[in-house]
Amino acid sequence: MKVSFVKSTATNNGTLVVGVFEDIEPGQSFRQIDTENKGAISRAIKAHNRFFKKRGEFVSVAGLNGVTYDRVIVAGLGKSNELSVSAAREIGGFLLSHLLVMNQQDVTFLLDIATVKQVTSKNKKKADSLPDMLDINQFSANLAYGLRLKEYRFDKYKTTLKPKDKTFLGSLTFLVNNPAATQKIYDELAHTIEGVFLTRDLVSEPANVIYPKSLADRARALTKLGVKVEVLGVAEMKKLGMGSLLGVGQGSANESQLLVMEWPGDDKKAEPVAFVGKGVTFDTGGISLKPAANMEEMKTDMAGAATVIGLMHVLASRKSKARVIGLAGLVENMPSGTAQRPSDVVTSMSGQTIEIINTDAEGRLVLADVLWYCQQRFKPKYMVDLATLTGAIVVALGHHYAGLFSNDQRLADLLISSSKKVDEPIWQMPLHENYNKIMNSDIADVKNAAGRDAGSITAAQFLQRFVKDTAWAHLDIAGVAWTEKDIALCPKGATGFGVRLLNQFVVDNFEK
Ligand code: BES
Ligand code: MN
Ligand code: ZN
Repeated sequence: MKVSFVKSTATNNGTLVVGVFEDIEPGQSFRQIDTENKGAISRAIKAHNRFFKKRGEFVSVAGLNGVTYDRVIVAGLGKSNELSVSAAREIGGFLLSHLLVMNQQDVTFLLDIATVKQVTSKNKKKADSLPDMLDINQFSANLAYGLRLKEYRFDKYKTTLKPKDKTFLGSLTFLVNNPAATQKIYDELAHTIEGVFLTRDLVSEPANVIYPKSLADRARALTKLGVKVEVLGVAEMKKLGMGSLLGVGQGSANESQLLVMEWPGDDKKAEPVAFVGKGVTFDTGGISLKPAANMEEMKTDMAGAATVIGLMHVLASRKSKARVIGLAGLVENMPSGTAQRPSDVVTSMSGQTIEIINTDAEGRLVLADVLWYCQQRFKPKYMVDLATLTGAIVVALGHHYAGLFSNDQRLADLLISSSKKVDEPIWQMPLHENYNKIMNSDIADVKNAAGRDAGSITAAQFLQRFVKDTAWAHLDIAGVAWTEKDIALCPKGATGFGVRLLNQFVVDNFEK
């Protein structure tokens, strides 16, 4: 889709979208189109009994006489003083869905400039309490951004779709008062789109396509953007003493890999920030085999790794000033004659021994060694891991918030603040010595699974045993990496959750 921002357009074909507020009378441009059509648009609005001009509501009128557009869509924008960055993005998402239903290809968006002027002056006094208050340029760039995030599709395996059915919108043109400024805002936002789409692609791919080596290869492609990529195999990990990670992969015919990425930023000696992803390319549960129902969803168990890869793509493509390390433990958890058993004791790189109680609690075993390696080699200022770690976090928080755990309240607060800016919500959960004790083993230093109670917290406590004195945070993304239905900025499927949050976190804390 081609997105452009112009002052005026000569080509009046395709679809015209006109935004209207709940609390403000439509402005001059709207009235002009309406008058040219003998009031047909305002009559259509009246005739539509459920159009309250709220966000996500549309009235669509086709075959008008006075305008040369094929169709005019009136888009509800909600209350003028609630028109935030988030609202603009959300409207973009809604609009994309509506345009698909209406099967519209070339679209011009007109936010009545007269209306906007009215809004700005009307809310002057309130401006302090409304830091998000948008001008038409910010509004348009953010609407386009939301629309593009929602437009994502994973249809490469649909052989009966023709190429033209695989592209939805042809062009999207915004009438704005400062095209150059709008384009600049949009271009900055657009860097994250590619990264989010990369993550969604990797998570959507089936497990026969994405396995440890092929996932590492996809990451290697980032070399051409200037990311340094290193991949360690089993022999190297054995030398490092990564018995915890290697135990998980030992039942699989696909060799485990450790992915090490580095974006040097402006100062390749600076104290880095590190992100660590769980990359279980398929989680059968191992010998503690999962039930068959919905097991196919476990192709998404590498979403943490995919998020780190997508993030590195964003940082590199916008040439971030920050020095960032991205790590991922890539393994396949399979049952077989060589698979590890419940009762096995493994020795982690940290030296701590781990009793395997349940081979399905494998993510923490992978992360234990990667977290240790990360601290030892890179000594990061902050270390943040992402993992589809527990079903229990879905029980606790559902599919809206990711779980946040941290040994450092300042880091937790920074993450929450960045998360709010991009609408990728995270909710802090507790860590406490009383939960930690639950993970004590009778015969080893720690066990990998305990009872069902507080399952996400005990998992995080396990991870914390492999964190030295680094400020660390853990994001349990099991509930948010995949969505069963369309959500604001994402169609059903892989969400890419975390790419925009962590990019914002880098912007907010490492690029000043
Ligand atoms: N990958 C799963 C967690 C998961 C569940 C991710 C649902 C996405 C959706 C993880 O490896 C796992 O199996 N966890 C177990 C831990 C238990 C055995 C202690 C769980 O949550 O049941
Ligand atoms: Mn598992
Ligand atoms: Zn898993």
